[in-house]
Amino acid sequence: MTDIITILGIESSCDDTAAAVVQRINGKALVLSSVVVGQEILHEAYGGVVPEIAARAHAEQLDIAVEKALVQSDIKLEHVDAIAVTSGPGLIGGVVSGVMCAKGLAAGMNKPLIGINHLVGHALTPRMTDTISYPYLMLLVSGGHCQFLAVLSETEFDRIGGTIDDAPGEAFDKTAKLLGLGYPGGPLVEKAAKNGDPTRFKFPRPLLDRPDCNMSFSGLKTALRRARDLLVKEKGGISYQDQSDLCASFQIAVADTLAEKANRAIDIFKKTTDSKNFAVAGGVAANTVIKKELENIAQKHNFTLLSPPLKYCTDNAAMIAWAGIERYSAGLVDDMTLAARPRWPIDHKAKPMLGSGKKGAKA
Ligand code: KG4
Ligand code: ZN
Repeated sequence: MTDIITILGIESSCDDTAAAVVQRINGKALVLSSVVVGQEILHEAYGGVVPEIAARAHAEQLDIAVEKALVQSDIKLEHVDAIAVTSGPGLIGGVVSGVMCAKGLAAGMNKPLIGINHLVGHALTPRMTDTISYPYLMLLVSGGHCQFLAVLSETEFDRIGGTIDDAPGEAFDKTAKLLGLGYPGGPLVEKAAKNGDPTRFKFPRPLLDRPDCNMSFSGLKTALRRARDLLVKEKGGISYQDQSDLCASFQIAVADTLAEKANRAIDIFKKTTDSKNFAVAGGVAANTVIKKELENIAQKHNFTLLSPPLKYCTDNAAMIAWAGIERYSAGLVDDMTLAARPRWPIDHKAKPMLGSGKKGAKA
């Protein structure tokens, strides 16, 4: 008999309003639709996400995104098994908008409601895109998060290490802002770095002297600002080549740090399992230089580096629907008391990271 689960997923925890319909047919994922309405234009002028603007835009776009996702999937709302929604962590206005929308749909259609931790959505994506089994090692690296996780099941995650201050995506965005490149910074810094000399500026690789898998990126941003200010002082401004060299030197410092800590995370993970899967997700995983360095490390350990297609790496609702499928099939559903949570660590056992949640709105 065919075993089919169909879930509508909703995501609105940061600056993307997203809805998707995903099916699991005999264990395999089928994304029937994945609608993402970005808000970059609204936040561009501020060089970062403005929470109040984001919340208003979500409230305006959610029902439109849901309707589009249903139409594109050719599935009627009455035929979905449940409604899954990001209920944290994130910018609270956006999360509340999503949860209210999902509650309305669940109540109106008499469907089960499933609250999803946004980080869990990212962490389970490789199971949707590559049908891998538990456990696997995961690097979640985005605008608001950076952590190594051993993913053991749909409810068990061991944090092996993470950033103690800024996330790499945030550092990329700030670098772009400091150099007048625009927003979001990651792709613009990567583009500028293509013409740059990564050896010209010796930027720090913080915490590499420590044996653990924790990372820090805020000092890197300060070092970049100092280098820029020095150039401005010496020459009255920065040239196109200076800009490219700064970007290339910054990018390689991030890549080296992530690669070295990935090396240690794999060593730790290997002690607990025979699994050879290392997955990377989050917007920063789009960076080709970073991905190449991670690939080299994976290869060195005889691991496979899995990186889901970019559209499922960055914020989307298909990953929320998929996490919903995993919870639904394990009998884990919520009710109308489901609350929106601005902070919600993925590993309940681990001690909070120093500074974690400071900017932890995105993941
Ligand atoms: O996962 P994501 O779409 O949103 C969340 O943060 O949840 O990630 C967005 C982040 C931004 O900070 C953006 O600058 C960064 O990912 N990013 C990149 C690249 N593309 C996006 N960072 C480095 N290189 C890229 N090519
Ligand atoms: Zn995210």
